[in-house]
Amino acid sequence: MTLNELGRHTAQLFAKTCGRPPRWIAAAPGRVNVIGEHTDYNDGFVLPMAIDRYTVIAAAPANTGSTRTQLRSTLGDGVTSLDLTQPVKPAPKGAWSNYPVGVIAGFLARGAKPCAFDALIHSTVPLGGGLSSSAALEVSTATLLEAITGLKLDPVDKALLCQKAEHDYAGMPCGIMDQFISVMGKENHLLLLDCRSRKPELVPMTDPSKALLIINTNVKHELTGGEYAKRRAQCEQAAKTLGVASLRDATADMLEHADGSLEPVVFRRARHVISEIERTLQAAEAVRASNWPTVGQLMYASHSSLRDDYEVSCPELDAVVDIAQAVGTKGGVSGCRMTGGGFGGCAVALVAADSVAAISDRLASEYERRTRIKPSLFVSRPAAGATLLQS
Ligand code: GLA
Repeated sequence: MTLNELGRHTAQLFAKTCGRPPRWIAAAPGRVNVIGEHTDYNDGFVLPMAIDRYTVIAAAPANTGSTRTQLRSTLGDGVTSLDLTQPVKPAPKGAWSNYPVGVIAGFLARGAKPCAFDALIHSTVPLGGGLSSSAALEVSTATLLEAITGLKLDPVDKALLCQKAEHDYAGMPCGIMDQFISVMGKENHLLLLDCRSRKPELVPMTDPSKALLIINTNVKHELTGGEYAKRRAQCEQAAKTLGVASLRDATADMLEHADGSLEPVVFRRARHVISEIERTLQAAEAVRASNWPTVGQLMYASHSSLRDDYEVSCPELDAVVDIAQAVGTKGGVSGCRMTGGGFGGCAVALVAADSVAAISDRLASEYERRTRIKPSLFVSRPAAGATLLQS
């Protein structure tokens, strides 16, 4: 389904639920991170792309006389009803409404005065798959609120507002990658983001002979748990011991020399981050040069580092990478790694475009044989960031 078709479909669902057509339709994509994992909150580099899976929100002003704003999702889970003339508050942890409500709170904090509205959310980004379904929900809400309030945010400010919603309302201390790529993604480009300066650089990815295959292990990924925050704290501890502002400023040499003064686990966390930042820069160069064997090797190295040093992989993700490696360059696979926060979710593989079907079949059947879980696989070209489909 194209994005416009998805928009029309969501408009029909809205009309069925709310009894009138929507006035606004906003959309924002999920993302896949090609490389640069757990580097964003260390001021490092990331290299994600937006995928052609979107969260779409259709909305219209509330019926005359109603002062309540009502949010619904096609996944069910009831109606969230708000009075936007009063301060908004987070619902209990785990409620999906915390993402859009956190974004609305960000607009209210900037002095925006949205009218009461009805909204219906529909998404093709797999939930809990490590493809940033949360960022897609936040950024689509922000795009909708820009239309409703007329307050057009600068892209960096918009991404930061959404990140704050995730911190304060969903309780997940995420970095800035997901919201930035969902706002700034561009068709046929990866985004090399310097998470310190917040300067994005587009890296063209147009070689028709290569495709990015996304393999969902269908093991649910749950990041609001404590492991993510624990990793962040370990990185901060490592930076402090090394006497640097963040691990972005540390080198492999500095780390080797400080070995004795870091707990072994903290040492390994830092080793991942320092090496991953380096790999991300090398990978961006290699993509620019269409040097696919190098990109592939860097992806495998990233996975090993996330599995062994950062310990955020899981047996199912390791199985996918293992099978991809067995298919190898002869079978059309250049590289493969887990993507996103980890502990489940998706892997991403760089593959020969003309072998996608054969590679997908082999990965799916071997994965199911080993884990007894059916995976979901799909290919995505680098897609465009958030957009208003109707205003
Ligand atoms: C999650 C977070 C991101 C980033 C990744 C790991 O997706 O939301 O900010 O830290 O994990 O790279």
